[in-house]
Amino acid sequence: MVVSLIGGSRFQSHEQVKEDIMTLPYVFSQLDHIELGFFPTPLHSLPRLTQALNGPNIFIKRDDQTGLATGGNKTRKLEYLIGQALAQGADTVLTAGAVQSNHCRQTAAAAARAGLQCHLVLRGERPSLITGNTLLDQLVGAKIHLVAPKTDMLTALEELALTLKTEGHHPYVIPYGGSNSIGAAAYAAAMFELQDQLQEMDLRIDYIVFASSSGGTQSGLVVGAEMTGFEGHILGISVDKKAGALQSLVADIANGTADLLDVPRIFNPRDILVNDNYIGGGYGVMSQVELNAMRQVARFEGVLVDPVYTGRAFAGLIDLVQQKYFKRDENVLFWHTGGTSGIFGYAQRIAELS
Ligand SMILES: Cc1ncc(COP(=O)(O)O)c(C=O)c1O
Repeated sequence: MVVSLIGGSRFQSHEQVKEDIMTLPYVFSQLDHIELGFFPTPLHSLPRLTQALNGPNIFIKRDDQTGLATGGNKTRKLEYLIGQALAQGADTVLTAGAVQSNHCRQTAAAAARAGLQCHLVLRGERPSLITGNTLLDQLVGAKIHLVAPKTDMLTALEELALTLKTEGHHPYVIPYGGSNSIGAAAYAAAMFELQDQLQEMDLRIDYIVFASSSGGTQSGLVVGAEMTGFEGHILGISVDKKAGALQSLVADIANGTADLLDVPRIFNPRDILVNDNYIGGGYGVMSQVELNAMRQVARFEGVLVDPVYTGRAFAGLIDLVQQKYFKRDENVLFWHTGGTSGIFGYAQRIAELS
């Protein structure tokens, strides 16, 4: 079932698919879906940064502009997840993440748009100032359940779902990061969007580089690459996991997604390209490295990247350019996955580092 809040549909009929293989295949229209975002997201070059780094040509795909209370990669995933929640008759969605979770903020905004209640289990210390994503969570009406940093989040989510059921609600649990086969299918679809843009721009991309954490984005991209015949590399910069763990996680989700979309391919962890050199102090621990990258991207291109995900991934990209990992004539696409409202949650830390 496809529900449109915005008007029009991105899905193609059987007949249209035959005419143009780069439009979204029929299999996607079999998934529950609701339109929540603004697509296609822009794709453009970063000429001043390219020149300053004296390396490959750098391009950017702007999934920070998807909409839903400032945008990000979860908008695509939530179009399918909220679609399924509605199809199952849910009246409430719940999910979990860190206090400054972009995923939670986007889920809260998606729920508001779809007329669903939203409960968020947020892990961390009570902030002295409600700001960044947490501020937006409250603004869009989510109910926040703050839990101690060491809490087992899966158990906390299950317990909350049970409580909501006993209160007479119909809850739908959205996994951490929206990363299951349904959420990842959205990024397989996004590869069709990208291929259309590349065709139109007559552009070949050799590397797609982006922040990878709960694995859904990367899983979807690799499945979409298989479906569209994309020949470049898909390089996830790990934000918080050792390469082996992230490769296994991505391969697992990718296999579930391939199954869902009838893609005859088995993914092995060794097929998944991950760089874990930029984890630094761990999840959410911002250092000078991320701040320098944030400043470089902002000051050369007027583009904002965040301290936790995209700033870390961009720091990795800049370092790889400096190490001559890419050839000068290669085209590298940074897939911006959002997170910009998280910047405000780090105002104090940015001041300390400045
Ligand atoms: C801004 C941003 N970029 C990247 C990611 C990582 O995406 P994934 O969890 O699909 O690996 C997240 C996840 O929360 C995010 O918020």
